[in-house]
Amino acid sequence: MTVKEVQDKILKLKQEKDICILAHSYQAREIIEIADFSGDSYQLSVAASKTDSKTVIMCGVRFMAETVKLLSPEKTVLLSHPEAGCPMAEQMDKALISAVKGQFPEYTVVAYINTTAELKTICDVCVTSSSAVKIVNNIENKNILFLPDCNLGAYVAQQVPDKNVKLLQGGCPIHAAVNTDDVRKAKERHPEALLLVHPECVPEVVKCSDYVGSTSGIMEYAMNSKHKEFIIGTELSIAENLQYRCPEKRFYGLSHKLMCPNMRINTLVDVLNCVKGDGGEEIILDEATIRDARMCIDKMIELS
Ligand code: 13P
Ligand code: SF4
Repeated sequence: MTVKEVQDKILKLKQEKDICILAHSYQAREIIEIADFSGDSYQLSVAASKTDSKTVIMCGVRFMAETVKLLSPEKTVLLSHPEAGCPMAEQMDKALISAVKGQFPEYTVVAYINTTAELKTICDVCVTSSSAVKIVNNIENKNILFLPDCNLGAYVAQQVPDKNVKLLQGGCPIHAAVNTDDVRKAKERHPEALLLVHPECVPEVVKCSDYVGSTSGIMEYAMNSKHKEFIIGTELSIAENLQYRCPEKRFYGLSHKLMCPNMRINTLVDVLNCVKGDGGEEIILDEATIRDARMCIDKMIELS
């Protein structure tokens, strides 16, 4: 079968079965093409809260599918590949954070959306990379405990200097692996290019950049810019997808290290198997987890 034949089959089956397909911006082009919506984590959570379809397939990682389930517990939610987890989301568990909360009872606990549903049950509010600064700014409490990503947390703390932001030592192993040496080499190779980075990168890399934003933020910035060349400091798929969208511009990945195996494990055939009813993994969350974790997501939508 050709890619086009698989795509047509998916489109036909999803219409017949009333299925909505959501794809994170890191997904491959052939998956984004058949999705009802693609975007960053925040945009996906808003799209998930609005869809009328009975079944939602999330082409992304587990916490994104869990977020869909929290917002639409009555829907059947499938993660397109059962092994697609986010290592950052698994770094901190409920026992650890309960203990930390006990030490800092006067702090508002802000969880990056890249956390498990279970951990969200004991946090006060969620943020995404595109909404974090605004939400932290809108929280009344001056004392913020930010988890798990210390790089995103450091970026937020810098943008909202009147808050007292306490960070924990977690983060994305993919983005955190990129360093200023990688920046220097990329700039030497492409001296005319602007550097656009995700705030999951370490502060020294963020400091060298011309723009900092979420995956969608980076894409919009590059598409709307008059500039012609860009070094992209997030998963390499963004540089590739941008190149398809803007053939007249040039996009270079900041480093070969920026490959997320969990995002890349999803294939078009996995999506086909899901719409056939023979693939993916259904997300099941108990009632108490849905009730308690959802408050965190609702608060995010309210404050952003
Ligand atoms: P966005 O919030 O930009 O979609 O990022 C999600 C993510 O996992 C980045 O690595
Ligand atoms: Fe998680 Fe990092 Fe992969 Fe994003 S790039 S899904 S934060 S491991």
